[in-house]
Amino acid sequence: MGEPAAPPLALVTGSNRGTGRAVRSRLIADGYTVRCLNRSPCADHDDPVTVDFGDPAAVARAAEQVLADAPRLDLLVVNAVTRGFGAVADVTAQDWDEAVAVNLTAPVRLVQAALPLLRRAQGHIVLMGSHAGSRPFEGGVAYCATKAALKQVAEVLLMEERRHGVRTTLLSPGAIRNFDDDHSAYKMSVESVAEVVSWAASTPRDTVLGEIELRPGRLDTPPVVGLDRLQHV
Ligand SMILES: NC(=O)c1ccc[n+]([C@@H]2O[C@H](COP(=O)([O-])OP(=O)(O)OC[C@H]3O[C@@H](n4cnc5c(N)ncnc54)[C@H](OP(=O)(O)O)[C@@H]3O)[C@@H](O)[C@H]2O)c1
Repeated sequence: MGEPAAPPLALVTGSNRGTGRAVRSRLIADGYTVRCLNRSPCADHDDPVTVDFGDPAAVARAAEQVLADAPRLDLLVVNAVTRGFGAVADVTAQDWDEAVAVNLTAPVRLVQAALPLLRRAQGHIVLMGSHAGSRPFEGGVAYCATKAALKQVAEVLLMEERRHGVRTTLLSPGAIRNFDDDHSAYKMSVESVAEVVSWAASTPRDTVLGEIELRPGRLDTPPVVGLDRLQHV
């Protein structure tokens, strides 16, 4: 009998809280070894490398460090986010630049750094998008624009990297209960979203869920409905 196969390896960003923390737990339950790339350390284990995604060059270096001894990478979940809310009229240059760096440039630099190992594993990339990428809202220009751009990154990766055996999924959720004290019945739990990440990463290898548009299963009564809503778009 040969050596038992090593467990698959996943790298998750923003896994110290919110959805990323649930994704990490879920992937561990699925049998993955999970490494993290976070700005803030996880409370329940040591993270040897922490990095601010506001500095994309540092993210590429940190990814190389955290994956230095990895023979392959089976799954990359790009989850960390900043929102930088503000209207076009007054979003600060700092919030805009940070959103572009954290939500767009750093993910691309991270994917670049991870691709050799992903190709070796015939691995999978899950990019966390958002409804905001296709349903823009007032006061959200930095978030909406960077999530819309991330969709294009996912599409290009699908076109380029399947040739090398690497599959990409853009998961675009609606509202998530990412804070522990949020008990809204109209948002998805982080565990449910993590389950969908796990599911996306486990479809048959001759398939890929290119894009998943995920909504809460229950809908609150919207403040403006029907014909009136046409006047509020
Ligand atoms: N929550 C929702 O309703 C919702 C809806 C649609 C899509 N999504 C998407 O789902 C994903 C997870 O969202 P979430 O709400 O669970 O996130 P979250 O609770 O707001 O947590 C954000 C994570 O990103 C990290 N982060 C923020 N700025 C960073 C930086 N400069 N460098 C490195 N890490 C940084 C945070 O680390 P720190 O602890 O250090 O701040 C944290 O781990 C995101 O991609 C988001 O766009 C969320």
